[in-house]
Amino acid sequence: MLDPFCGRGTTPLEACLSGRIGVGNDLNPVAYYLTRAKIRVPAYDRVLSRLQQLEEGYEPLSEAKYLLDSYRELSKDAAEIQQSKPSGNPGLDRAAWEHLMVLIRELRELYVRCDPNMPYFTSQDYDFREKSAKDIGYEESFHHKIWLFYHPETLRQLVYLKRSLGSQPEDEFIKALVLGIMHGRGKHYLSLPMPNTFSMTPRYVLAYSYKNMLILPEKNVFDCLRRKMALIDPLPAGYVQGAAFSCDIRDLPGVLEPFLDSAGQKPKLLVSSPPYLGVVKYGQYNWIRLWFLEEQESVPGQDGHREKSLEKIVDAVLDDGHHDLESYLKFMRESLEAVLQVMAPKSISAWVIGDVGEINLAAAVWEQSARPLGGYRKLGIIADNIDEGKKVTKIWGAERGRATKIDRILILERT
Ligand SMILES: C[S@@+](CC[C@H](N)C(=O)[O-])C[C@H]1O[C@@H](n2cnc3c(N)ncnc32)[C@H](O)[C@@H]1O
Repeated sequence: MLDPFCGRGTTPLEACLSGRIGVGNDLNPVAYYLTRAKIRVPAYDRVLSRLQQLEEGYEPLSEAKYLLDSYRELSKDAAEIQQSKPSGNPGLDRAAWEHLMVLIRELRELYVRCDPNMPYFTSQDYDFREKSAKDIGYEESFHHKIWLFYHPETLRQLVYLKRSLGSQPEDEFIKALVLGIMHGRGKHYLSLPMPNTFSMTPRYVLAYSYKNMLILPEKNVFDCLRRKMALIDPLPAGYVQGAAFSCDIRDLPGVLEPFLDSAGQKPKLLVSSPPYLGVVKYGQYNWIRLWFLEEQESVPGQDGHREKSLEKIVDAVLDDGHHDLESYLKFMRESLEAVLQVMAPKSISAWVIGDVGEINLAAAVWEQSARPLGGYRKLGIIADNIDEGKKVTKIWGAERGRATKIDRILILERT
């Protein structure tokens, strides 16, 4: 079973769970790691011993002990309240909160002075009190926005892991575990309280933290990873390992070839949901997880922007940015053509293609992208009226924009 736009890998996972070889591909590196962890699972004891080895190799900063102890002491009660009740004020008055923020600032300065691997930080200060989110005074050139989301010690552990994790299976699995706990609300997550689904902007977080007096919780990343591991169920009987790839769908024939040769068979089923007409900016909304996957810390250029950040790269290369029908249909034609080369004869593909505005996109994809290629036969188009409350896009709330109303599934057979 192949899903060439697999996102976080639910479809290949379901395939592996039902005894098929699930193959996932996605150009977004976050999607790749999440998928890989689901369909190529290393032995749990090997993951745990690798975690222990990493923890033993981590050296805390002795210079920070005094400041860390002061912050722990003064934030202890608030940290507990915030963990059990992540929205709203964790019981601090304004002066106590501001004092904690001064300690955080001193810690940031110390960490960046003592550890050259930390993200960039300048001593430029800003005053965001009583300002609106639009007018917060923070600029990305002052320091990397990642500093705003983590306690400096937690951030340093993340930086250490980011630099230490390699490409062996246990390491790639740990990377996916980190991605899963990077941000969210409650004790399993490493950040200050925020949604798990998408990354917030620094302006929003600064304004919200100020208003609600949120504190940066000191989380031990190794402990949180072990807790996360303990939540994972053992693999059920009948589970089959799959494979994950990360390439542009148009390069899939060449990239998949060695794998298909060694498997001695081609996919017989494809289930996929292609990127829609400019619905979501995956890079921007995943910037925190993409920061973790960056091989090198990106630094701002002359204009203060980090052009080489993975976040920008992902938004530049992913094909979710088609704003007009014509370029979308061309992209789908190229995608269907690439897939035609890797699928088995008589294989079935199911493409989940939502309507956008008044356009029946599934019908347009058949008429203008698939049919002209030859090689496909249309078996049908199924309309799937999803209840609004059950759609993933409900996480966007009022910001969901041009999300699809009706999903249609275009079913094709390779002739
Ligand atoms: C609609 S989403 C799929 C969602 C997935 N079904 C899920 O449940 O998570 C489309 C995916 O296509 C990926 N994508 C966009 N352009 C691509 C390209 N040219 N090649 C491969 N993947 C691409 C995006 O990263 C995104 O994850």
